[in-house]
Amino acid sequence: MSAAGPFTLFEHGRLDSTHAFALREFSRLPDGAVVTALRQDAGRGRLGRTWLSEGKGLYFTIVLKPAAPSPEILPCYTHLLALAVCSALERAGLAPSIKWPNDVLCGGGKLAGILAEAVIAQGRPDGAVVGAGANLYQETADFAGLDRPAVSAAMLLGGAGPERGAFLREILDAFFALRPALEERGFQAVAGEYRRRAGFIGKRVRVFSASGGVLEGTADIDDAGLLVLDGPDGRISVTGGELSF
Ligand code: BTN
Repeated sequence: MSAAGPFTLFEHGRLDSTHAFALREFSRLPDGAVVTALRQDAGRGRLGRTWLSEGKGLYFTIVLKPAAPSPEILPCYTHLLALAVCSALERAGLAPSIKWPNDVLCGGGKLAGILAEAVIAQGRPDGAVVGAGANLYQETADFAGLDRPAVSAAMLLGGAGPERGAFLREILDAFFALRPALEERGFQAVAGEYRRRAGFIGKRVRVFSASGGVLEGTADIDDAGLLVLDGPDGRISVTGGELSF
């Protein structure tokens, strides 16, 4: 364990999943705990997918126990972590963009994904865990067999990805610098930072829901940080799904 300001690192060589660990240990971990693992045996992605975690990426989950937990804040934590990952990639010389709800894209493929989950205790929101997996050192062959394009920072930077510990620190510095404002003022506090990296805003998009439905319209993010689509029947709010444009 090592504490540095608003966060405390809990570093592991190998876990099933930093996310699963953070949820299991939620009551014992402090606010701002950051659980890391060099490898995950059962890395979790969104929509029940697996996140390959063979040791060439960065895998971590942040434990959040805000003073006034609210269900509305959950998508905002995803947005905040996505923009913190973007900020660290920009410092490494890359030009990432965010694809709603949780993808960080760069150079034509997915470089990182965010996963957030609310923690409910006795029927009330108690906090959240939000984590990220970022591809750092993989080569093209490591992604063979994936059903969508993926890239690593090393592939885009010509062989050498950013040092894992320093890269994590940059993400956490960006995340925790904006967290108080987000929890006080909501999505508005980070809307500018988010919007300038959100490549889908203003584009004609389709959103595929888990149940098979498809919604279409011009994408935007509203004041609460929710996706909205402007289509022939007016403006609709979208709570989940897979976006393509
Ligand atoms: C996605 O794009 O589907 C989200 C991927 C999130 C992966 C990270 S890796 C660290 C943390 N632990 C997990 O098991 N999953 C998240």
